[in-house]
Order: sequence, then structure tokens, then C-alpha cells
Amino acid sequence: MRWGAEALWEAVAPLLPGFTIEILPEVDSTNSELMRRARAGRAEPVLLVAEHQSAGRGRLGRAWASAPGDSLTFSLGLPLAPADWSGLSLAVGVSLAESLHPDLCLKWPNDLWLADRKLAGILIETASFGAGGAAARQAVIGVGINIAPRPAGGLSTPPAALRELLPDIDAPGALSRVVPGLVRDVLAFAQAGFAPFHARFDARDALRGRAVTLSDGTSGTAAGVAGDGSLLVHTAAGLHAVGSSEVSVRPAVR
Ligand code: BTN
Repeated sequence: MRWGAEALWEAVAPLLPGFTIEILPEVDSTNSELMRRARAGRAEPVLLVAEHQSAGRGRLGRAWASAPGDSLTFSLGLPLAPADWSGLSLAVGVSLAESLHPDLCLKWPNDLWLADRKLAGILIETASFGAGGAAARQAVIGVGINIAPRPAGGLSTPPAALRELLPDIDAPGALSRVVPGLVRDVLAFAQAGFAPFHARFDARDALRGRAVTLSDGTSGTAAGVAGDGSLLVHTAAGLHAVGSSEVSVRPAVR
């Protein structure tokens, strides 16, 4: 596959000194690989793309399956020192949706949805580096985007594909569409936190006003997100703010 890595590098390197791009035919998981490197002290700005992942990972310990050519799988690793990390995953979702298509919605905390079907997922992990507990950490921002339609078997949310919106798109085209904006937005987040992304998330919020059920058993009506990116849910017991770490949320089946 031809990835157009040179043009992409030229667009990103001025924003991120020392930036490199690597395309691997196969790896277990681009997130796992960049986390291994970070833990070994290699905390440098890098875009790692895999044509195939043998052990792709999703949030909450789930697997992320993808077929070569039919999906885009990559991780962006970079040292980051925001004053507050909360809302980063929402900001990444906003960035990807804005770069890809106006019809895409965001399903809290950070799935990209097309008409209530899942088009893309995001897995963010961090590793500390350097001695003495310095504030900087290596952020590893993993993104999986369905390019071509895929079988729904075993998925809790039916899948959508980018070709439904952009019939001629391929994985390299999607990569060059999202990465420059993603780098700009992540650097903006490091400076200003979630605030500049809040209204942009609201504009694409797939859950607002809908009945939702949380994996911890709570149910209520989604009411947008708070300034720290937590999900607000009106429940019988009052307004409840849900952090993203261990909870999943789905529209309630009526
Ligand atoms: C989710 O929806 O739960 C998150 C899915 C994240 C998948 C991407 S694919 C590239 C990167 N490497 C991984 O192993 N996972 C992320």
C-alpha cells in the first residue's frame, strides 16, 4: 500500500520537532508497541501505522479486530504535559470527526458514530518517563477507523464505514485527512485543556437528550458533558457526572 508518508511528514514536522512516521506491515497493536517503547525510555513524537494488527486492543479490555485494507489503525505517540488531562479523549474524537465528515457524531467518551453505528474508536494510554516524577508523560493515542463495511458479528454496536460517506476513500487517504489536525488539536489541548473543544463536542454529541443506560446499572437522560469531559446524566436521584474510565454507556432500548 502507498501511504504518502513524505507529504504527511512535511505537514506535521513543523508542528512537532523530531517527528517520525513508521508504517509496519504487521504488529500486535500500535498502542502496545508505542507503550513498550515509552516504558523503555523512547518518548519521542512518532506516528506508527500498522497495515495489520494481530492483537488490536479497545477500551475496557476489549479486542479491536480489523482486516488489512478495510480499516485504518494507527497510534500517535508524543510527550505531553497538559495541566489537566481530563477531556483529552473527547478532544481527540472532536478532532477526528471534524477532519472526516460533518455527518459524524460523537458517542461519549470518544467513539465516532454514523447514524448510531460505530465508525471509529480511540484508545488513549500514557506512560511516564524521565526520573523524578516530572510532569511530562508520553501519550499514546490509538485510533481505529473502519474504511470498508465489516461484518457485525460479535460487536455490541453495529459497525459503520467511512466509504458510506466518502466512496473513494482508502486507509492512506483517511490517514492524511486526520493526522495534521489531530496533532494541532492535541497540542492545543496541552495548552488550553478541554475548554476549546467543549462546544465542538456538544455540536456532535450523539447522546444528548436520549435515554441512556450505564454499565454500572444507572439509567437516565444524557445531558451533555461537563467542563472536565465527564458525561452528565439526569437520573431519578439527580444530576450525575460520569467519569470515562471504567463505565460504558448505551442508548436505552425503548
Ligand atoms: C475502542 O473503541 O474501544 C477503541 C479502539 C481503538 C483501536 C485502535 S487501532 C490502533 C490502536 N492500536 C490498538 O491496539 N488499539 C488502537
